[in-house]
Amino acid sequence: MAKINLKLLKIEAKKEIKKTESLDYLNKIFDKYLGKKGIVSEVLRSLKSLPQTKRKKTGEAANDFKREIGELIEERKKIFQNAGYKIQDTHFDITAPGKKPVSGHLHPLTLARKEVEEIFENMGFSVVEGPEMESEWYNFDALNIPKDHPARDQWDTFYLENGLLLRTHTSPVQVRYMEKNNPPLRIIVPGPVFRHEATDPSHEFELFQVEGLMVDKKISVANFKAIIDEFFRRFFKKDVKSRLRPDFFPFTEPSFDISITCVVCGGKGCPTCKNSGWVELAGAGMVHPNVFKNAGLMPHPSADGWQGWAFGFGLERLTMMKKKINDIRLFRSSDLRFLNQF
Ligand code: PHE
Repeated sequence: MAKINLKLLKIEAKKEIKKTESLDYLNKIFDKYLGKKGIVSEVLRSLKSLPQTKRKKTGEAANDFKREIGELIEERKKIFQNAGYKIQDTHFDITAPGKKPVSGHLHPLTLARKEVEEIFENMGFSVVEGPEMESEWYNFDALNIPKDHPARDQWDTFYLENGLLLRTHTSPVQVRYMEKNNPPLRIIVPGPVFRHEATDPSHEFELFQVEGLMVDKKISVANFKAIIDEFFRRFFKKDVKSRLRPDFFPFTEPSFDISITCVVCGGKGCPTCKNSGWVELAGAGMVHPNVFKNAGLMPHPSADGWQGWAFGFGLERLTMMKKKINDIRLFRSSDLRFLNQF
């Protein structure tokens, strides 16, 4: 056996221990120096062949090496163990599937909004936005809702100290848009609206509405029905039946509400549709002549007059139907157990 310089070897071993970054590697160093087939064992085994004089000194040096390096390795091991390394963990299966890092995603209402916008854009509609802080004129008067008219009570309003209000619906954008753009036109207006209401599973004080407006020379209710049915088909990805029932809105004449067959029970009747088989999703109607006039346009039937339809629905309601959600308050609850499902 070649002569081994235990002093130099010790320096080298210490350096190597310091450099280790895993238990696995540390174990290899242990084997190399102190293992059964390690260098020190070899030195100890070779003692008998040494002359008496050298035997003692070498034996002592080898044992000293063993103790000191053994202690250093133990210390280093503890560092790894405290840092959460386990001996088993250092052997890993490279064929095992990796852990997926958790990543965020868009809010269910944002996803629904994108979907709605895409469907209408594909049918030739433009997406338009308006201010959330609105004047009484656009939110009410211009929409044919005079001051002190009981119809105003239909919208519980947050009035602001600056004389404006938080819009209670997206309908004011109808007038804003028609003031600046000449028909024919096709727009949808997505955006938040606010109502001073108590909350419960089907009411919120902040809602996300989508307004629709189509104006041209010869526009009828039949035209509206065709477009809204096509929208429902594309949004729910199945054939849903819709029905219109007479309703009242000051800014449309005639007015109606739109219901669809309950997507949860298929129209048989369930708690979501209150056993009626129908769910009301939107208000709509033919644009009132006064609304055209307030926007500076001539209404039908004057020569060159315009006709149009408008609708407004709550995106929450629509999403609740599609995803079978039973409490509107979940959307703004920030509850990850809810949000992570989408
Ligand atoms: N703005 C109405 C509401 O919020 C809905 C609506 C829009 C009705 C357009 C008719 C036409 O209740």
